Amino acid sequence: MAVRTYESIPGPREVPFVGSVFRRFGGPLQFFRELKATCGDAARFTLFREKFILFSDPALVDEVLISKNKSFRKGRALEGARVFLGNSLLVSEGDEHTRQRRLIQPAFHKARIAGYADVMAERARQWTEAQRAGAEIDLAVEMNRLTLAVVAATLFGSEVDREAGDIAASLTVIIESFNQMLLPLWRYWRHVPLPQNLRLLAAQRTLDQTIYRLIAQRRADGRDHGDLLSMLLAAEDAEDAKKRLTDVEIRDQAMTLFLAGHETTANALAWTWHLLAQHDAVRAKMKAEIDAVLGPERLPTLDDTARLPYTNAVFSEAMRLYPPVWVVGRRALEDVRIGDYLVPRRTIVIMSQYLIQHDERWWPHAMDFHPERWLDEAAQAARPKFAYFPFGGGARKCIGDYFAWAEGAILLAVIARRWKFEPVPGHPLELNATVTLRPKHGLKMIVRESP
Ligand code: HEM
Repeated sequence: MAVRTYESIPGPREVPFVGSVFRRFGGPLQFFRELKATCGDAARFTLFREKFILFSDPALVDEVLISKNKSFRKGRALEGARVFLGNSLLVSEGDEHTRQRRLIQPAFHKARIAGYADVMAERARQWTEAQRAGAEIDLAVEMNRLTLAVVAATLFGSEVDREAGDIAASLTVIIESFNQMLLPLWRYWRHVPLPQNLRLLAAQRTLDQTIYRLIAQRRADGRDHGDLLSMLLAAEDAEDAKKRLTDVEIRDQAMTLFLAGHETTANALAWTWHLLAQHDAVRAKMKAEIDAVLGPERLPTLDDTARLPYTNAVFSEAMRLYPPVWVVGRRALEDVRIGDYLVPRRTIVIMSQYLIQHDERWWPHAMDFHPERWLDEAAQAARPKFAYFPFGGGARKCIGDYFAWAEGAILLAVIARRWKFEPVPGHPLELNATVTLRPKHGLKMIVRESP
């Protein structure tokens, strides 16, 4: 097939200059859904003269994220976040990103995750024991607290326990400001002394003070505490052994892991509980597997997670239907051909996990919650690689994917063994698709003994 120029790609009718701005009133997810439905696997649109393409074919995603990834950068979306995250793994680009990834990767090796898994199980046990039958809780809030406790303990060990409340409150302020950070003028706007900006500044100060104090204590005692902070302090550049991470770099990475490492997993778990509450037979089957592997008391280890295929299938299926990161974007550094499409330099390419993971071509009965599909090896093998990509792919794939899989299975196992959750009647359920995909009104549930 002949090469297709940008102009020949189908797109919506647009208003001069502002482009598709008004079509986005229903939110970006609704807009992208409509684009895919009307234009197919490649759709073109503009916003304030900036060119965008939405690709919805896994083969095209594969090219952007893997084989032609050198022609792209992550782009502007995370620019605002640099104010908080510095030039860390999530936001750095090119050679600097490669260097950081090499330094941090050892903190996510299997042997390390085994240690973190014990922390996850212990935190899940504490949470489970703190619940009461009949209580009404917001599982979205609760899962955020729990995964924050997990990431705090795996990053900094038990030393932050006393300050965990302050850290959580500061991080919440920062996360709530994330949407504003995506606005073009935010860098200037944040200096205006408005209450919300002052709150943000105070939150950042609290976090910085805590992190720098912990770094100083650790440098002084020099021991390996088995946590992520110890790994970051010990990280050495293979090409230059003297080139360790500086305090500022460690602070930036720690803050990044704090932020990237809990809200996503919390959303994945919240959505899983939501689905299990609607499908009691699935919940019962998962519980039977957990009981058979762990019995009534034993806490799961990392090795146990491989013995819980159905529990993992439930978690996979929940992340298919509700991908916590529902869209990724890349900006073209040069004119580049993707499939049959010519993507002009500076165009932003959008790829949505949500849309592709709901596509009937790769997922028969795509809207159904059906964990068994993950146990069908033939169907798995027949599917294109990027029909499922909750953790992205290629050089920028989530560094915490293995951590998150372990955390999902462990938290589900420990909690589901004891409790199940019943939706509070009449509680509204709506998607809130911002940087992550959350339940807009939280997830109010009643705690019940698991039979
Ligand atoms: C279910 C949970 C999680 C999901 C769905 C998720 C998803 C993602 C995705 C899609 C990306 C790539 C974004 C892009 O390509 O633009 C990413 C990157 C990243 N994630 Fe995760 N993540 C999860 C958990 C975690 C955890 C537990 C950590 C750390 C403890 C973490 C740390 C990071 C970091 C540092 C990056 C940037 C990697 C790089 O650019 O080299 N994530 N994540």
